[in-house]
Amino acid sequence: MERIQIFDTTLRDGEQSPGASMDVEQKLEIALQLEQLGVDVIESGFPVSSPEQFRACKLISENVKNSTIAALARSTEKDIDAAADSIGTAARSRIHTFVSTSPIHREFKLKKTPQEVLEMTRKAVRYARNRCAEVEFSPEDATRTEPDFLCQVLEVAIEEGATILNIPDTVGYTVPDEYARLITMLRNRVPNIDKAILSVHCHNDLGLAVANTISAINAGARQAEVTINGIGERAGNAALEEVVMALNVRKDLLGLETGINTRQLYTTSRMLSTMIGFPIPRNKAIVGENAFAHESGIHQHGMLSHRETYEIMTPQSVGRETTRIVLGRHSGMHGFRKRLAELNIIIKEEELKRAYEAFLKVADRKKEIFDEDLFSIVSEQFGTTTRSLVLEYLQFHSGNTSVPTATVRIRDQQEIYEEASTGDGPVDAAFRAIERALNITATLVEYNVQAITPGKQAMGETSVIIEIDGRRSTGRGSSTDIVEASAKAFVNAISRHRLLQEVVHP
Ligand code: KIV
Ligand code: ZN
Repeated sequence: MERIQIFDTTLRDGEQSPGASMDVEQKLEIALQLEQLGVDVIESGFPVSSPEQFRACKLISENVKNSTIAALARSTEKDIDAAADSIGTAARSRIHTFVSTSPIHREFKLKKTPQEVLEMTRKAVRYARNRCAEVEFSPEDATRTEPDFLCQVLEVAIEEGATILNIPDTVGYTVPDEYARLITMLRNRVPNIDKAILSVHCHNDLGLAVANTISAINAGARQAEVTINGIGERAGNAALEEVVMALNVRKDLLGLETGINTRQLYTTSRMLSTMIGFPIPRNKAIVGENAFAHESGIHQHGMLSHRETYEIMTPQSVGRETTRIVLGRHSGMHGFRKRLAELNIIIKEEELKRAYEAFLKVADRKKEIFDEDLFSIVSEQFGTTTRSLVLEYLQFHSGNTSVPTATVRIRDQQEIYEEASTGDGPVDAAFRAIERALNITATLVEYNVQAITPGKQAMGETSVIIEIDGRRSTGRGSSTDIVEASAKAFVNAISRHRLLQEVVHP
């Protein structure tokens, strides 16, 4: 089977997305993870643009052994020298140089004639080829470039020694059919094209980046330029995980493979999302929270009979734990019964109907029903008791010259527990004080804060997921003070955990 090269540009084009910047150490961490993932080429940055970028490219080159390290350069000697110097120590290196070729870029950005752009291409590739054994060339804004001129530019780049020709859809303008035709045209018309491989680089302005990438690959491109989670300029680039899984799942149709270890996809995606603080949308393909979750009764029934009725790949194949059968108001009796059984709640068949009706009432009011909700529904129906903890008092101090401390008082029915603790910040101090007061150890798995009313006095809502003794529970808290909202959510999650513990199976 033919292999598609995966060129990851998370650290270059991805990092150009507003708000996604990473420091040098973070970039190295991502690069090492990309190596684990098995990407063929890591574009490590644009070294001439800043000393930090240069340092990052250098550090990555010194530490990554199994992927080619590329660095970006405009068509000037200064840029190309910076690129060559920064990646010189890499086991395998590549200079990626580019020139704008479309009429609009030539006129308004470069202020150059077509002839001058041709000369810039010739000189840049020649110079780069003298500094590095492997050169990739990109005619920027290729999809809005006149076909004849594009062919001429590519021919010159190959003559000067470029062996990878990238055809960027810089502004996300093309559509799948048109892009495939462009690739086919280049394969037919550029005379020396057999000396190079064609690469594709798609932006997502019309939401077509992945579709365009697959379409171009189908037409003969053999390298895909992609980013983790699809981050990148404006609406982003084609998402690596989506392109790779499309090739993987549709091998039957496309007959192509990649060197990616797909089981590393989820970890890589989460690592990047946490590092740059870009949450992954719930419905994002492959790595979103809902990508392997089923709520409707019909789907749950189908899934429980045969997984492939509603899943085209397994969650495990992308490094996720398992399919989630989400209970909500669309869930049927099958899903409800199965989840109770998984939780080891055994109810007689005649009681099941009553419990299911109670569940539907709650589900009408609540978006998603968690395990602890199920326990409380069942325990209400069958008479077990529940206790909730109340955060009665919270005081905290923090500042840039003092150690953050927090004191809490928690009521558990008639009992009062009070404790104080220091921490890395006021929220951490409050969490530690709560753990001490209740004599438990909870691992914080997820922590989210959002404003739920506008303005300076906005109410903040905090949600947490904690794990105690291998069991997860969620909690929410709101307040105009974020530390208080966080402490309330933490106490709420512990309360819910207790509920899980105390349910007596009816
Ligand atoms: O989108 C683009 O055209 C680019 C080039 C530098 C390849 O990122
Ligand atoms: Zn780009």
